[in-house]
Amino acid sequence: MNIKINFKKQVFNKSSENLILFIDENFNISSLKKSISSSDYSYVSDLLKTRDLKKKIITFDISSKRKIILVSLRKNLTHSGVENLGADCYEIIKEFKRLDFSINSDTAINRSKNIIGHFLHGIKLKSYTFEKYKSKKNTKNITINIFGKNISKSKDWAKFNAIEEGTFYARDLVSEPGNVLHPDEYAKRINSLKKFGLKINIYDERKLKKLGMNTLLGVGQGSIRGSYLVTMEWNGLKNKSRPLAFVGKGVCFDTGGISLKPAKFMEDMTYDMAGSAVVVGLMKNLALRKAKVNAVGVVGLVENMPGGNAQRPGDIVKSYSGKTVEILNTDAEGRLVLADAITYTEKKFKPKFIIDLATLTGAIIVSLGSEYAGLFSNDDKLSKQLIDAGEKVEEKVWRMPLNKNYDKLIDSKNADMQNINYVGGAGSTTAAQFLQRFILDKTPWAHLDIAGMAFSKYGGALNSGGATGYGVRLLNKLIEDNYE
Ligand code: BES
Ligand code: MN
Ligand code: ZN
Repeated sequence: MNIKINFKKQVFNKSSENLILFIDENFNISSLKKSISSSDYSYVSDLLKTRDLKKKIITFDISSKRKIILVSLRKNLTHSGVENLGADCYEIIKEFKRLDFSINSDTAINRSKNIIGHFLHGIKLKSYTFEKYKSKKNTKNITINIFGKNISKSKDWAKFNAIEEGTFYARDLVSEPGNVLHPDEYAKRINSLKKFGLKINIYDERKLKKLGMNTLLGVGQGSIRGSYLVTMEWNGLKNKSRPLAFVGKGVCFDTGGISLKPAKFMEDMTYDMAGSAVVVGLMKNLALRKAKVNAVGVVGLVENMPGGNAQRPGDIVKSYSGKTVEILNTDAEGRLVLADAITYTEKKFKPKFIIDLATLTGAIIVSLGSEYAGLFSNDDKLSKQLIDAGEKVEEKVWRMPLNKNYDKLIDSKNADMQNINYVGGAGSTTAAQFLQRFILDKTPWAHLDIAGMAFSKYGGALNSGGATGYGVRLLNKLIEDNYE
């Protein structure tokens, strides 16, 4: 569904439009006297007595063609609470026949700043669908006209827009099937973000070989597609201060390789590039809103396929860091891609911190389901910042342990380490311990295992199912609150 938003200064026609009005938690209707016609007022106040006031949104059918929708704003409502209200409201109004609405912003009692902005943000985030491959698309438009004075500055609108664009871009990338968004195509799409002012560097197989990124290359060697490392730089500070770094796993499709996955649900592995999509979406958002920060995004793009040239279990490869890895299971490929990407990021950009994102382990879904991403970090301050940002935008993270005692599980007889732990248990932590070995310079680092968050079968508060874009808003908030 397409959402069109208009700002109108002039007084609207109270008695002919579909109205969305805000009201307090007690549905104290007297506050709306000025905002609706007297006949509507008596109709609504009469009917209100018959309605369940525990609901947050109540709809009145004024006529067959016209509705009044009351949205109650309770005390201490947070920004994300307002966004959820917008999303709930969208779920109600999208079913209506008539799809033009007027919001009287003056009824938004100023309990938290910028209620209208967050309300519309919630509507827009919830309304996203991926219909590219449907012959019959939903061509309906919802038009929302905003009246009144309680409208925030244009700068704030630009920011909401940038976050939406970044989130939708990440969702689009995750939604694309493996036959379309293979590494060659993905690298091209990222390259097109140049036009927003990002500096893009693409390292193809020849360059990666020269650099010695053999753990990344090993994952992609069974595929007819190329393997890439792509860097995206945003210099919003116009100085050379150390950037914030975001690294993403971009496995365009994960068959498991020679350690082939079972057929059932293998199709889900089209979203095994979600970590990288979050990084790309975040960078697009930073560029669109001209964020006052230096940041770099780094993604490893590969396709994990079985084939005549595919990596074998038992292979030993030398990573960019110089450390050697024995590949015991070709399905534990994400950590191999990230290993080289992380070391390269640390060495090349000397960042203030590195945050990597990956759909890394099924085990994190066993631990945390689809409520929290797993957070693994060598830094308490960065962890706290992530936890706080996550609570604020409701993209939550839960800190999980790292400990050197887990190291023995990934030490190898034949190489410096092996890519899986054969003893079993703590699958997400041993994966994180593996990644930590590729931070060579004590850079503050956090790893987010988003395997349970990237995709939603049933939909969440601010998405209607499918790719969630989880992480774009989290990292944007982290930057906004602590680094701008
Ligand atoms: N991409 C998968 C992890 C995954 C599983 C993401 C389910 C989303 C949903 C990853 O590459 C993988 O295969 N991990 C293995 C690791 C194992 C071989 C040590 C896993 O989790 O089973
Ligand atoms: Mn895998
Ligand atoms: Zn994978």
